[in-house]
Amino acid sequence: MESPFKPDILKGMVALLTGGGSGIGFEISTQLGKHGALVAIMGRRKDVLDSAVATLQSQGIRAIGLEGDVRKQEDAIRVLDSTIKHFGRLDILVNAAAGNFLVSAEDLSPNGFRTVMDIDSVGTFTMCHEALKYLKKGGLGRGPSNGGTILNISATLHYTASWYQIHVSAAKAAVDSITRSLALEWGTDYDIRVNGIAPGPIEDTAGLSKLAPVEIKSKAKEYRPLYKVGEKWDIAMAALYLASDAGKYINGTTLILDGGLWLSRPRY
Ligand code: HXC
Repeated sequence: MESPFKPDILKGMVALLTGGGSGIGFEISTQLGKHGALVAIMGRRKDVLDSAVATLQSQGIRAIGLEGDVRKQEDAIRVLDSTIKHFGRLDILVNAAAGNFLVSAEDLSPNGFRTVMDIDSVGTFTMCHEALKYLKKGGLGRGPSNGGTILNISATLHYTASWYQIHVSAAKAAVDSITRSLALEWGTDYDIRVNGIAPGPIEDTAGLSKLAPVEIKSKAKEYRPLYKVGEKWDIAMAALYLASDAGKYINGTTLILDGGLWLSRPRY
């Protein structure tokens, strides 16, 4: 679908996306790039990064891939350093790296719980922490903001309770809390806006194929009136809105993109 935004709304800006080589992260990489941003993507798998960068470049987007694991502080430092060496600045950090699997709380080992907390929550904080010194100078001085911006990809699982997702629910609750705390501290001190996006079920993603088996998709309408599957494009458009000057007054919000699903109850 064509974007409703002008193609130069992010012109001259540099974006770094963790988990930017696949799924929702890759669509955000693509749309930020199509709207003028220079794009660095960070991920653990070289083959995924290589193929993502080739696809971005084939669309005329200036993109680089940087191998790294958000669980390792030294990787975060190195990847940020490489982004600055390559593109000279940092305006937008998108934390999209996430770990997930379905498992009952009874069967989940504490190390399994910790692993997802480490990727989603600690990884998000680590990237933000190491990016701060660059984001302070980001934002191109456009609009009232003198700093860059951060987008944290979250979920809606923890608004209620979700079966077999105790680890991810806890991790995303922490991510939302990090979003608010950084919005307060860094918004006040550095004009850095920090927001989140909470996607519902999105087609063609690992999240949906792992977490919502086919029968849930087909039967969901019977017990969840608002059940609709979204597109990665929907998430990327929200990212553009929040990252661009269109979102200049938005700080500390996690925008829910689920078609209203988390509100919905069975029809009585
Ligand atoms: C139970 C599991 C498990 C599983 C791993 N563990 N997979 N436990 N069921 N399926 C446990 C292991 O037993 C181990 O604990 C601990 O977790 C670490 O596992 P490792 O394999 O050593 O970790 P690692 O190789 O680092 O991999 C971590 C990973 C990650 C979390 C499994 O590779 C991963 O999930 N990658 C997929 C990424 C992904 O799907 N992203 C999309 C996210 S979608 P023990 O105790 O045995 O040592 C998303 C959407 C959420 O986030 C919202 C949807 C609506």
